[in-house]
Amino acid sequence: METVNAKKKSALSVTIGQLQLANPVMTASGTFGYANEFDSLVDLDCLGAIIVKGISLQPRPGNRPPRIIETACGMLNAIGLENVGVERFITDKLPYLKQLSSPVIVNILGDSIEDYAALAARLSDTEGIAALEVNISCPNVKKGGVAFGTDPAMASAVTSAVKKATSLPVIVKLSPNVTDITQIARAVEDGGADAISLINTLLGMAIDIRTKKPKLANVVGGLSGPAIKPVALRMVWQTAQAINLPIVGIGGIGTTEDALEFLMAGATAIQVGTANFYQPTAANEIIAGLKQYIHDQGLKSIREVINSLQV
Ligand SMILES: Cc1cc2nc3c(=O)[nH]c(=O)nc-3n(C[C@H](O)[C@H](O)[C@H](O)COP(=O)(O)O)c2cc1C
Repeated sequence: METVNAKKKSALSVTIGQLQLANPVMTASGTFGYANEFDSLVDLDCLGAIIVKGISLQPRPGNRPPRIIETACGMLNAIGLENVGVERFITDKLPYLKQLSSPVIVNILGDSIEDYAALAARLSDTEGIAALEVNISCPNVKKGGVAFGTDPAMASAVTSAVKKATSLPVIVKLSPNVTDITQIARAVEDGGADAISLINTLLGMAIDIRTKKPKLANVVGGLSGPAIKPVALRMVWQTAQAINLPIVGIGGIGTTEDALEFLMAGATAIQVGTANFYQPTAANEIIAGLKQYIHDQGLKSIREVINSLQV
């Protein structure tokens, strides 16, 4: 009980549904491996949470290379959701993650609603997992490949199926590749999500003008990094006006100032993604920077910053 109370009192602590976090800074799925890769570079025990690479029922090899290219102020990736599969995740990766002090959130992905529900049930039975983050950017193979995250009815259905299958807090991660993000956010809220995270990558492409070929073998890929920050911030702000759930902001966050912008726009917590590749200590530095900011501003808690934007 003492640790829970200590967390409640801490100036940086935030609450996402039933999830109590010591601070609002998490590492984003797919940019932080299974954490052990960052062992020698990052203080892994002080993070708000660690979100692991997206896990599917079966292992996936991912797409052919080239799968990553650099762009102006960002990168394009078409990794193709390569991962070790849920069983190897539990036996090979989770034991290391479990001995860290930071909570572990597992990002899940599937080709059908049944896949998502089966993953949620399997991970619910496993010790050492604080919450699930549901990646709905994947195509529903059964329904002809339409991404779950672009169809409000499917987004709602996958959310309620996952909620039924697990007692863990469920954070649904939205795709920005839609006309109206608030429509999908409302559908996911109706489906029973405990929180929403946004954004995933924006669809993009790049061409090699010498060969006249796409730079990515997959032709199109997901754009991430500082280039997408203004789009992500706008979507977080719009979504904060539209729903009552806690929001986790993601997209181009690499500095304390970036994190503060997302909190002011209405995010309760944030994730550091692409920045982990060029500045592995970014998450640690943001935690220290937020502490310094509330001290300098004479605030009692970071919670006073959330939704403080004045329009
Ligand atoms: C190489 C790479 C792999 C990613 N893999 C996943 C994934 O498995 N599941 C997921 O939900 N998001 C994945 N993402 C998206 C990130 O978690 C994040 O939402 C996105 O990159 C935007 O944040 P950023 O600009 O800070 O990187 C991946 C991103 C990158 C760059």
